[in-house]
This record gives sequence, C-alpha cells and structure tokens, in this order.
Amino acid sequence: MTFDEIYNYSCEDPEKFWGEVAEDVHWYKKWDNVLDDSDAPFYRWFSGAETNVCHNAVDIHVEQGRGDQLAIIHDSPITGSQQKITYSELKSRVARFAGVLKDLGVEKGDRVILYMPMIPEAVVSMLACARIGAVHSVVFGGFASNELAVRIDDCQPKVIVAASCGLEPGRVVEYKPLLDKAIELSSHSPDKCVVFQRPQAVATMRTGRDIDWAEAVKNSKDADCVAVAATDPLYILYTSGTTGEPKGVVRDTGGGIVALKWSMKNIYDVKPGDVYWAASDVGWVVGHSYIVYAPLFNGNTTVVFEGKPVGTPDPGVFWRIISEHNVKVLFTAPTAFRAIKKEDPSGAYLKEYDISCLESLFLAGERTDPDTLNWAKHHLGVPIIDHWWQTETGWSICSNCPGIELLPIKDGSPTRPVPGWQLEALDEDGHSVKPGQIGALVVKLPLPPGTFPTLWNARQRHFDSYLKTFPGYYETGDAGFIDEEGYVFVMSRTDDVINIAGHRLSTGAIEEVLAAHPDVAECAVMGVNDTLKGELPLGCLVLNSGVNRDPSDIVAESIAMVREKIGPVAAFKLATVVKRLPKTRSGKILRGTMKKIADNTEWKMPATIDDPAILDEISESLADLGYPKNNQT
Ligand code: COA
Ligand code: AMP
Repeated sequence: MTFDEIYNYSCEDPEKFWGEVAEDVHWYKKWDNVLDDSDAPFYRWFSGAETNVCHNAVDIHVEQGRGDQLAIIHDSPITGSQQKITYSELKSRVARFAGVLKDLGVEKGDRVILYMPMIPEAVVSMLACARIGAVHSVVFGGFASNELAVRIDDCQPKVIVAASCGLEPGRVVEYKPLLDKAIELSSHSPDKCVVFQRPQAVATMRTGRDIDWAEAVKNSKDADCVAVAATDPLYILYTSGTTGEPKGVVRDTGGGIVALKWSMKNIYDVKPGDVYWAASDVGWVVGHSYIVYAPLFNGNTTVVFEGKPVGTPDPGVFWRIISEHNVKVLFTAPTAFRAIKKEDPSGAYLKEYDISCLESLFLAGERTDPDTLNWAKHHLGVPIIDHWWQTETGWSICSNCPGIELLPIKDGSPTRPVPGWQLEALDEDGHSVKPGQIGALVVKLPLPPGTFPTLWNARQRHFDSYLKTFPGYYETGDAGFIDEEGYVFVMSRTDDVINIAGHRLSTGAIEEVLAAHPDVAECAVMGVNDTLKGELPLGCLVLNSGVNRDPSDIVAESIAMVREKIGPVAAFKLATVVKRLPKTRSGKILRGTMKKIADNTEWKMPATIDDPAILDEISESLADLGYPKNNQT
C-alpha cells in the first residue's frame, strides 16, 4: 500500500486501522472497545484489554527465540566501558530488580521515581516497574533538587531509585546529595531509596531508608509480569508548561505498545534484530520511547550511550559507535549535529570509520535548520528525516515514513502527518487557514494510541491547556503552516516554552526563580537564537528602587539561583539589568519584541506599547551583553 492509502485508511476508520495494528501485540485479554469515546474529549484506546509492557519488550523475545540476541549495547566513552546485554540476560536482570521493588512493598499502581544517568540499570528499573505494574517517573539528571522535589510531591513515589552519580565530561555529578536535599525539600517522603553505587562517586547511605542496589538484588527473588489494564498508566514524565509547575504527562500501557511497535516498522523502517540508536537521554520522552520501549517491543538492539556528540573524546564518537555496533538508524537532535559540524566542519573524523551500515538519520526535538540538514546529507549520504513530536504525543505527529514509502524531502519540513494524525492549521477563530499561511497547529481528536490520555492528577489543566481553545482538537502549542502538497512546517511555539539543545524549558519557570531574588522587582526571560543550542534563555532584570549594589553581582547571583533551583540543563548564563521592561498598555511584557532585538531581526514598534523609549533602553542593555544594537525598521 502507498503512504496515501495507509494514511487515508487510518483517518477514515481509525478503530479498524488500530485494531488491526494491535494484533501485533501480546494481550492477556483483548479489548472491549478499540476506542472508548464515552468520556470525550478524553478518549481511551483498547479499554477492557490487559497486557504487560515488560512482557512485550523482553519476555516475548526470549520465548520466541531471540534470547541470545543483544537487547542493549551500553557504550560509555566517558568511562571507557561497554556492556552488551542479551534479551535473556535483560529478562533475568529485570525480573530480579522487579523482585526487589516488590520486596519493598511496591504494588501495581504505585509510583517509583527514577533518577538515573545513561546506564543499563536505568532501563532495567523502568522495565522492572512495568513488569509489576508500577508507574515510573524518570527525572533527568540535569535537574536540581528543587525540580526533583516538585516531582516527588506531585507523584508521591513509594520508592526512589537513583544512581550515586552521573558523569558529564570532566565533571562527576553526585546524584545522592541532590536526592537527599530533594527529599528534605519535599513534603512527601518515599519509604525507601535504592541506590546503584558507581565507582566514580560512592554515595553515603542513610540507615533505615537507603538500600544498596547490589545487595538488594543478591537477596531478592525474581518477579513475574503481571497483567495490567491497557488503560493503566505506564509512566509519568514531567515536562515544562507555561508556569513553573511542570506537567505530569501520563502514558498508558496498551496504546503505547501498539503505536510504538508500529512506528519502528513503518516510520523508522527497522526490522527485529537491527541495531537502532537514539542518542538522547532516558530522562526525556525520546529516551522513553526510542531508547527503551519501541526498539525493545520490536526486538531490536538498542544503544544506550553515555557521552556527548563532541568532547567524548572527539566529534568522531557518533561515527565510531555507528560503525562499531552496526547501527542501522540513528535518531538524535539537530543540536548534536550542529556541535559536530562546528568542531569538524569538513567531516574529517568521518573518514576514519566505515558507516555504510547506516540507512537513515532521524532528527527531532527542534526544527532541523537547512544548514544542518544539508551538512548531514552531504556527509552521510542517507535520507535525513526531520520529524516533529512532543512529550505529550509520545511519538511522531509528522514524519517521512520510509517503512511505508519514502516521500520527497523538503528542507525545513518534517514532511506530512503520520498515519493516525489529522493535522490542521487554524486561525484564532478556529477556521482553517489557507495552504502556506501560518496558524496554530492542531490535531483532530481523538489523538491516536500511544499519546497522553491525561496529565497526572490534573484533568482540568489537561483540558485547559490542550483542549479548550479549539473544541474538537488537540492544541500542540506550535505554530506553522501546511503547504499545497500537505507538507508541514513547524515554525515556533505559541506559548512561553523555549527549546534549548532539544530540551524544552519554560521561561515562566526561570522567571519565577529570578523574581525570588531579593533585589529583583520584575523580570522577563526569552529564548534568543544560538547557533549551537538553537535557543538560549536570556533574562532582563529590573531592580528594586534604592538597590545600589553592583549590577554584575546581582546578575551572577541570579544565574547561580537558576542553576541551583532548576539545574544546569536550563543553561541560563545570559542576564542583564535593565531600567524598565517594555509592556503593552494592558501590562503584558513584550518578550517577543525584545527577542527580535536580541536576535537582530527586523522589528516594528508594537502599536500597543506603553512607552516606546523603553525598547531603545533594552537595545542598549543588550548591546552590553554583546548583542549588536538593533533599531526598529
Ligand atoms: N546530568 C547533570 N548535568 C547535566 C546533564 C545530566 N544528565 N546533562 C547536561 N547537564 C549539564 C551539562 O554538564 C551542562 O552543564 P555546564 O553548564 O556546567 O556546562 C549543562 O547541563 C547544559 O548541558 P548541555 O545542554 O548538554 O550542553 P553542553 O554545552 O554540555 O553540550 C551539546 C552541548 C549540543 C553537545 C548537548 O546539548 C547535546 O548533546 N545535545 C543533544 C541533545 C539531546 O539529545 N536532546 C534530546 C532530545 S532528542
Ligand atoms: P518535547 O516535549 O521536549 O519533546 O518538546 C516538544 C517541542 O519541541 C515541540 O512542541 C516543538 O516546539 C519542538 N519540536 C520537537 N521536534 C520538532 C521538529 N522536528 N520541528 C520543530 N519543532 C520541534
């Protein structure tokens, strides 16, 4: 069947389409309804069915004769080590760690927070939770204690599993003191913490609460997979919204297995046994879907990489891994390629490796700029596929689907909506805009399986954030256009979310931290263009009247506060003191105009501005930070 035929079928009869796809999954009990619309606009897929994620990811492959195939290749250029784990071995490790969790009283539906770096034990703990029906919530290692504490209070874990440390180039990040502090800060306390000790930093344990992973595993028994409802949550993954309070995106069990397994064959075009590498982190949705679950559902070998695209040790590390492990498909963020391109513009490192095994490169997390696309195309000689998705959607909204039919690639476009996704661009009044005109990108409900059924404990926020503005549609929060041929171009966010090195952060959350500085009266944070990371947050601070300290001290303290409260991942290093903030007459801060000034793009004086002179002051202050002065056109 052609792409168009499959796409049209998925839209005309989604229940039949996904019902057929779901035959490829192991169920203990089949569904009563493929699609349950009894609570619309909140929809559920495969209600009444029972299954288990871990069974579909691990046990089934051992049963079907793939036990000796590698499930995981862990490659850590930072420690100079590798581990190769077969499906049989993965099953034993997961079953045993599931036994540990059970011994600690973790039951179906209980939450377990995982604060882990890129080591096999992170994958093992995720699968162990799934095995016994517990709901995991992985917290990215680059977040600080305060962010971890917020998540602890929101999902109230019975147990937290952490490693003693993560490893950044040239820096050991001790997780255990961060965890101890987070538990001090949070109102909820977990019953127990299981700590995986790494030799680079051995954690001090708290008697009575902390348990050593290795000891616990020695003293436990294997636990089996339990049947859970297809609609039971598999995990909660927190992501940035417009406020400082993160959103707990829930992924349910059955739909997740169905959609992710389908995506491996149809989007990424990999077959069981192929080596697939998503160079991201288990703390992000890409890591959940494409380091852990999808490749394992599909019987692939997944590469778990602890390193960076450059500096570990050089910009050839991606090529080394592709050639050494026979990687067929690589998935990463454009920023990783920009980093490689910057250090090795001529692609000299590529000449040292044979990467002929690579069949395609998928990029997501931010728009692939044409420069990066062309550099990758020139040097790799394989299709470079930009695809667009979000934590909420769990898999691609738009992508080229080489597993079905490779469509012509257009620079700057993630191609067309994937089967299952009915995308439209709407104007403010909810009317479709003409091809080529920018509008809010929205998806007709119901979203396909594998997307988020809800936000953890926040049904109203779910409705208000995504379903309210355009009734009958899911609002992606992205703006863009659809051309005459149905190709989609995702141009910008419609909210205060910014994208730093493929990581999503909220300017509102950074502003909340800055506003807490005793000398700061008000502030505004915006994402300004950066050639490496796509965007960087830049803060403008207005000081309380009467403050006569050195502004550079206040800037330094503010930067330290953001690192302390949100974490190094916020990459907040640009701030300046300004006299006043530009506002509309109704008091709305004109962040967009300030961004244009910093980005040195054309800007016009907003008609609603309260006092036009303020924008000249802003331009002056930004010039002090090294941004060229940019006067209005
Ligand atoms: N634990 C602790 N700290 C972390 C961390 C982690 N897991 N990940 C990042 N950090 C820290 C970094 O050490 C850095 O700290 P610093 O300010 O002391 O230097 C800061 O957070 C910012 O990190 P990062 O965004 O990784 O920037 P970088 O300058 O170290 O590296 C790139 C730049 C482009 C190489 C890097 O951003 C990259 O590899 N990006 C790929 C992004 C990606 O995979 N996105 C996932 C979506 S697909
Ligand atoms: P996250 O939830 O962290 O995956 O971030 C999702 C957001 O990243 C999207 O809403 C987009 O703003 C942006 N994004 C992700 N992939 C792409 C892409 N291929 N093109 C443009 N923007 C993207």
